[in-house]
Amino acid sequence: MSKVYDFKGNIKDNELEEIKNIINKGGVVVFPTETVYGIGADAKNKEAVEKIFIAKGRPQDNPLIVHISNYDMLKEFTCNISEIEKTLMDKFWPGPFTIILNSNGTLPLNVTAGLNTVGVRMPDNNIALSIIEKSNTPIAAPSANISGRPSGTNINDIFDELNNKVNAFVDGGETNIGIESTVVKVDKSVINILRPGKVSLEDIKALGFDVKLDKHVFADVKEGEKIESPGMKHKHYAPSVKTILLEYTEDESVMINTLKKYVKNNSDKNIGILCFDEHKELLKEYNVINIGSVNNVLEISSNIYTKLRSIENFDCDEWIIEGVSRTGIGTAIMNRLTRACSYNILK
Ligand code: TXA
Ligand code: MG
Repeated sequence: MSKVYDFKGNIKDNELEEIKNIINKGGVVVFPTETVYGIGADAKNKEAVEKIFIAKGRPQDNPLIVHISNYDMLKEFTCNISEIEKTLMDKFWPGPFTIILNSNGTLPLNVTAGLNTVGVRMPDNNIALSIIEKSNTPIAAPSANISGRPSGTNINDIFDELNNKVNAFVDGGETNIGIESTVVKVDKSVINILRPGKVSLEDIKALGFDVKLDKHVFADVKEGEKIESPGMKHKHYAPSVKTILLEYTEDESVMINTLKKYVKNNSDKNIGILCFDEHKELLKEYNVINIGSVNNVLEISSNIYTKLRSIENFDCDEWIIEGVSRTGIGTAIMNRLTRACSYNILK
């Protein structure tokens, strides 16, 4: 069994030393960040990084995010950072923000999947920062889940799927934000959002920058199409049961009526509904699980992956998920749900 370190109350110095030793000897550790749990290894150690790909069953062409705890680490493996990139890092680090920078070519090829760029993030989580700082090396870490599955936001959700595949789990309780960081790439003076997150398009615009959502944030990649991020073409965040995303409308009766009509027209199926807290009572004759308040999208983001995992334990044929408004962090929630539902959208 993989070792579990309980850092929920506080970081224990002697155990942090053990975790540092695991990382420095080329081991793999699951650890919390403010977004989701990461499965991390020394970014400078090719064999250690290879173990992450094996544990996750991750496609080799999908590069990893490199996590740092200070700006000196950044200089070790990046080059030609622009003023705009500096401003963005200053503004959003530490935080749920990943920026694609020019790589100086020193990292092992499997970290960047052979690209000449590298995704970097300074997380806003004391446990993550302490592990990186103590290990004194940048840590490459994708989300902690088997590739294609919903990301892990607590140890309980991912223990079984990663047990014995990693050296240790560091338990920091539930992650705060619940969905992965915003990934951006600066293209001349335009900031292109490759993956939306808690740092929203509106947040970046408020700094006075030109910013856009990459066209693949909400559209599937077609055969032969050029993509900005390898992760865009892979299946993601999906539970093992069929799911359908219900488009948000401000008028709740429209959502409720669409739901009821769909269930009625599919009476041969046993359908479950992941709904807003406010709709639970209105839908009480159906199989429902609530996902948080429609007025508190942050609550929905922090719950969503656990809820997507929990529906696997019911014997429904399919689940409908109530979508949120595509603004602020709602854009990120809808990006994950669109993919989790394999672009099956109910309007
Ligand atoms: O919040 C997060 O970002 C979490 C925590 C653990 O930090 N990490 C995470 O990693 O979500 P992962 O591997 O699940 O997602 C990384 C995404 C992928 O879509 C990948 O394709 C993209 O970032 N990416 C990484 N390096 C890239 C690069 N050089 N160019 C374009 N996309 C890149
Ligand atoms: Mg992931």
